[in-house]
Amino acid sequence: MNRISIKLGLLFLAFILLIEIGLFFYLYTGLADTRISEELESLRLRGNSHREVLEKHHDSPTLSHVALMESEAETDVIITDKTGKVIGSSHPLVKGARKTVEQWEGHSFRYRGEIIQEYQKEKSYIATASPIKINDENVGTVYMFKNTKDIQDMIFRLQHHFYIVGIISVLFSIITVFALSKFITLPLIRMKQATQKLSQGDFSVKLGAHSRDELGQLGTSIQTLSNELHRLKQERNEFLSSISHELQTPLMYLKGYADVAKRSFNSEEERNNHLTIIQEEAQRLSQLVKDLFQLARLDQHTFLIQKQNVKLYPYLHNIIQHFDLALKEKDIQLQFDCPQAIELYIDPERFQQVILNLLDNALKYSESGTQISVRARELPTKVTITLRDQGIGIPSTDLPYVFDKLYRVEKSRSRKSGGYGLGLSIVKEIVEAHEGEVAIKSGVGKGTTVEISLRKDV
Ligand SMILES: Nc1ncnc2c1ncn2[C@@H]1O[C@H](COP(=O)(O)OP(=O)(O)OP(=O)(O)O)[C@@H](O)[C@H]1O
Ligand SMILES: [Mg+2]
Repeated sequence: MNRISIKLGLLFLAFILLIEIGLFFYLYTGLADTRISEELESLRLRGNSHREVLEKHHDSPTLSHVALMESEAETDVIITDKTGKVIGSSHPLVKGARKTVEQWEGHSFRYRGEIIQEYQKEKSYIATASPIKINDENVGTVYMFKNTKDIQDMIFRLQHHFYIVGIISVLFSIITVFALSKFITLPLIRMKQATQKLSQGDFSVKLGAHSRDELGQLGTSIQTLSNELHRLKQERNEFLSSISHELQTPLMYLKGYADVAKRSFNSEEERNNHLTIIQEEAQRLSQLVKDLFQLARLDQHTFLIQKQNVKLYPYLHNIIQHFDLALKEKDIQLQFDCPQAIELYIDPERFQQVILNLLDNALKYSESGTQISVRARELPTKVTITLRDQGIGIPSTDLPYVFDKLYRVEKSRSRKSGGYGLGLSIVKEIVEAHEGEVAIKSGVGKGTTVEISLRKDV
């Protein structure tokens, strides 16, 4: 038995008992009160009807007739004259009846009859009194009595029922506690164990089939969380190992060339060559570290995007100009097509990185004599910017992964063509930070098309 089911069970028990006590008081007092007032009422009416008979025939045969009738019935009667003297009574009488009559001697009762003894636990009877009036003159009183044994029995039976119901509901609550622990808290316990395992780094969490209620949804969420954590951990491990691998190679070069440059028998020219390589390598390394740093910041969402309205034509034109020299060197033509009117709400500095990286790829992975095009289009809800090249293309097996960090199609080519495989991941992060989308299409030997779409309303 676990703590939560005990808590829930006790709560449930308290709740049921509370309801039961409430119901008990309501029903018990209600039922008992009606029953008692019914008894009193019928006693009063009986007294009144004797009184009426006596008013019509106030003589001793009628008196003894009434007394005889009451001796046979469950009720008792005492009849007094106007001085309070008893002139007739049934037999036997309830205990204390005569005393009550003495107590009320000389009292003038209302004609409709009065209750002179209410139901009380310690009294064994109830009583009423009806005055006898002939020609508006008080000639005596009819006192009626009734034993309360019946009422007490009824109340006792009522209590008995309520006790039984009470015991049943306690039993029911205990059963419920067990059921609760099985059906409600068991999945909770399993989830608790699962999260404990998760926090200890064990991701082999299997929560099994889930119901469709909130608990089931919680289970599904935990399962998703666990899978996601697992994936992230794996990704991080892979990322770290590829980073260390990436760093290893340039550092090896640096060390190697530094060793060679140190040798005294090298000519001045050779030494300069080696130093240039060292410089380039250091440059590349510093770029890598910068890119990684940027990605890390993009990942953590710790950077602020400072958007402003940008006229797309001059903006793109300006970026493309950076490539003029490189394009000429490689004899690649660039077509630029952008309506003057397009305006975008973007962070110009960060978005420049996107275009730079994409153009860099297009240039890097194209043969000389080919064409690159940069085209912007305004659609009803979005603006698209498309970069197309006629370069070497990307095999379809690699295409899904090119946005991953440090992913390159040709691992060995990296030193020659210079990339670390971070460009496209930076592109994706920045575009997504602008709530845009980036899509890539490519075929080996056919060239590559990258399309960025940005929503106009953000
Ligand atoms: N336009 C393209 N044509 C052919 N292949 C491409 C093109 N763009 C990207 N790729 C392939 O996708 C891989 C990932 O591109 P990405 O820009 O992320 O890395 P990179 O260019 O190798 O290095 P970096 O951009 O970090 O200098 C590249 O290594 C390349 O193989
Ligand atoms: Mg690149």
